[in-house]
Amino acid sequence: MKILTIVGARPNFMKAAPLLGCLRRRGHQPLLVHTGQHYDANMSDAFFRDLGLPTPDRHLGIGSGSHAQQTAKIIAAFEPVVLELAPDLVVVVGDVNSTLACTLVCSKLGIPVAHVEAGLRSRDRTMPEEINRLVTDCLADLLLTPSPDGDENLRAEGVPAEKIHHVGNIMIDSLVQHLDAARRCDVVARLALPASGYGVVTLHRPSNVDDPATLAGILGALREISRDLPLVFPCHPRTAGQLDRAGGAGGLKVIEPLGYIEFLALVANSKLVLTDSGGLQEETTYHRIPCLTIRDNTERPITITQGSNVLAGTDPRRLVTLAREALARPRQSRPVPALWDGKTADRIVDVLEQWWRSRSAG
Ligand code: UD1
Repeated sequence: MKILTIVGARPNFMKAAPLLGCLRRRGHQPLLVHTGQHYDANMSDAFFRDLGLPTPDRHLGIGSGSHAQQTAKIIAAFEPVVLELAPDLVVVVGDVNSTLACTLVCSKLGIPVAHVEAGLRSRDRTMPEEINRLVTDCLADLLLTPSPDGDENLRAEGVPAEKIHHVGNIMIDSLVQHLDAARRCDVVARLALPASGYGVVTLHRPSNVDDPATLAGILGALREISRDLPLVFPCHPRTAGQLDRAGGAGGLKVIEPLGYIEFLALVANSKLVLTDSGGLQEETTYHRIPCLTIRDNTERPITITQGSNVLAGTDPRRLVTLAREALARPRQSRPVPALWDGKTADRIVDVLEQWWRSRSAG
């Protein structure tokens, strides 16, 4: 079975790496295409290095642009590549524009697609990722879900049960594999963060960072919180471009984006995370570190019902209150969600091999 996996943006890399490793271990020779949606050394190369990802078989070099431009460029560039590589199956991960664009190309060519991280829904169509999730899941042939809510969402949308497979959370495979390396990492000392503890901030959602007034309100709340707990802020390039217009991030320790292992170490040793990222809601759930999600909704509700996540919204006063409450609460010790166990890649390869056997038989 010739399997081609797609990566494009930062949150894809830690989802693809365990799958590629597992496919190789089990005797397959997987192909990898990087669309180049993310291209800075610290948004892409650092992750390839830390996660042991192989050099992609093809790099499409797409780069940034409006959603339409970026998606259209990926579609046009990927079509000849997938025709040339002629895979039996294409695996897409997550919910970025590369996920949607490559799925669309394959569907029109009749090439089967498996979607890793299927079924998540924020029910907020102003979020570009929600559109990507809906379209990808509508078109994909195999829907590999991280949590039971994903299965329920897909069933409610009329997806036939035989397409849906609850395999668990593949991001946790990467996390588990690299915890030892993170323990050896000296990033906390290198950044001279206080021994008494610190919090980690990440912000990059267009709804939070593109409007200077919204971003200024959030930064004001973070400044207030940093009086109780020093905050370190690895800043996404989209956000870095907006900081000045929002009055700067005084009071916070703003740093460049970190690689996978350094960031894992930074989060694992923190007391509190404030974020609008999807993946971090899951990683903090695994670490049982309190997380305030600076959004009004989440496509990962299991991180609230079974994890350490609180949906905080963007109101500055509420953010400050919730941060104080989170710091005062004793640390949770509840179990992580089912199948967030570091073995998701194996379960995915089981599903793919089973699919291939029944296809070959039929
Ligand atoms: C993308 C994903 C988002 C994901 C995020 C993680 C979509 C719709 N969005 O958002 O789901 O959570 O990645 O980072 O696919 N830029 C650089 N260097 C880079 C990449 C981006 O400078 O390597 C800057 C550019 O100015 C670019 C902006 O960041 O215009 C936004 O990048 P883009 O890929 O469009 O969206 P993200 O906000 O990164």
